[in-house]
Amino acid sequence: MADKKAQLTVDGLDDSIELPVYSGSTGPDVIDVRALTGKGFFTYDPGFVSTASCESKITYIDGGKGMLLHRGYAIEDLAEKSDYLETCFLLLHGELPSQKEYDEFVSIIRNHTMVHESIARFFRGFHHDSHPMAMMCGIVGALSAFYHDSLDITNERHRIISAHRLIAKMPTLAAMCYKHSQGQPFMYPDNKLGYSENFLHMMFGTPCDDPQVNPVLARAMDKIFLLHADHEQNASTSTVRLAGSSGANPFACIASGIATLWGPAHGGANEAVLSMLQEIGDVKNIDKFIQRAKDKDDPFRLMGFGHRVYKNFDPRAKVMKETCDEVLSVLGIENDPLLAIAKRLEEIALEDEYFIKKKLYPNVDFYSGIIMKAIGIPTDMFTVIFATGRTVGWIAHWHEMLTEDYRIGRPRQLYTGETKRDLTAVEDRKPANPTF
Ligand code: SDX
Repeated sequence: MADKKAQLTVDGLDDSIELPVYSGSTGPDVIDVRALTGKGFFTYDPGFVSTASCESKITYIDGGKGMLLHRGYAIEDLAEKSDYLETCFLLLHGELPSQKEYDEFVSIIRNHTMVHESIARFFRGFHHDSHPMAMMCGIVGALSAFYHDSLDITNERHRIISAHRLIAKMPTLAAMCYKHSQGQPFMYPDNKLGYSENFLHMMFGTPCDDPQVNPVLARAMDKIFLLHADHEQNASTSTVRLAGSSGANPFACIASGIATLWGPAHGGANEAVLSMLQEIGDVKNIDKFIQRAKDKDDPFRLMGFGHRVYKNFDPRAKVMKETCDEVLSVLGIENDPLLAIAKRLEEIALEDEYFIKKKLYPNVDFYSGIIMKAIGIPTDMFTVIFATGRTVGWIAHWHEMLTEDYRIGRPRQLYTGETKRDLTAVEDRKPANPTF
């Protein structure tokens, strides 16, 4: 039911167009523009800067305050007092679990961590230097070939078993990508271990030597997964919703999210931050890169800075920075040169008029790469880690959409191409002179 009304007047129209305005539980009101098509208009919003694509109850971001809530709980509180699997339960079901519910959920996930043995053969088709994100796009999409028993998206039981399988198997598949790139044998999950501890065991254990995972690193890994779990209607989540709106199976939808996340403007930024810090190489070079980031004619951007929604600190970056200090201290890497460059870069950028005016603050990707590098995770695996943590958010939004009245997503356009013209015989044509 509309709370308020908006009146739209358009030159050439005798009457104004009345549009309903809805209020959420918090955040900006929305103007329902669906009636415009019937009046012969579309809205125009490239990049969906001002468009609410759906109604959701999962995550809320207040970009001005630097606030991130998952089902109403602040990310800082969840990072400090919860863990990744409890946050998965919260995102999927809307409430924090009781101890019994938590234990049951952990047990379910633990019992789905293995993948079909045939999956191992898929990796033989990838060269050892294949990018792990390329492998993940292929392998996760192929999972639907193994789970014919749970592909009916109208069946809630099928949807929840797919959610459990994906949350449980992403770490196993991520570790398999790494092992394949190292030429080492795959490690099976060890169900005596916690979720993130198990991941590090599968990453760095070998059949010859499987040392106990450092609990501080396991906790840091769990926090990294938790901080990446969900983030409203970001590019990859919106892709998953759009794929799901066509009725595609959950594994295909998650593979589309992985593909979207790979871009350096999105989840690929953590890998790009490390490359940037390595390119800067020394604190004395920072000013040159800051100038480049401000130069409109230079495509270089300060990776790990800026955000479509946050116009204040990304709260995840603050937690990530604290975790970074903890991990480096435990590992005795107090003087990590890249961390020194990152910290000095942050100080300089936050004092610079350009960054202040454009409200460019460090985002989740700025410090995460330094932690992952310290844990021993190679740079090309960073976005795979992001995808593993974000899988629960993608699935929660996919499930939320399917439980509500949804339609296939099909945006319109402002067409500025050729209007109808006759086809000229090839002998009468001028050269097309293609520019690309
Ligand atoms: C993630 O959406 C999400 O929620 C994403 C995410 C999630 O959890 O899902 O939070 C994860 O993707 C974090 C962002 C990671 N990306 C990077 O760190 C890459 C570097 N950042 C930029 O590419 C950029 O800030 C974006 C892509 C993050 C945001 O782009 P927008 O919202 O389209 O902003 P914009 O490009 O229009 O920038 C506004 C202005 C521009 O200047 P003007 O054209 O107005 O003069 O700020 C400038 C930009 O040139 N700008 C930067 C900059 N980011 C924006 N200038 C230098 N360095 C930067 N990093």
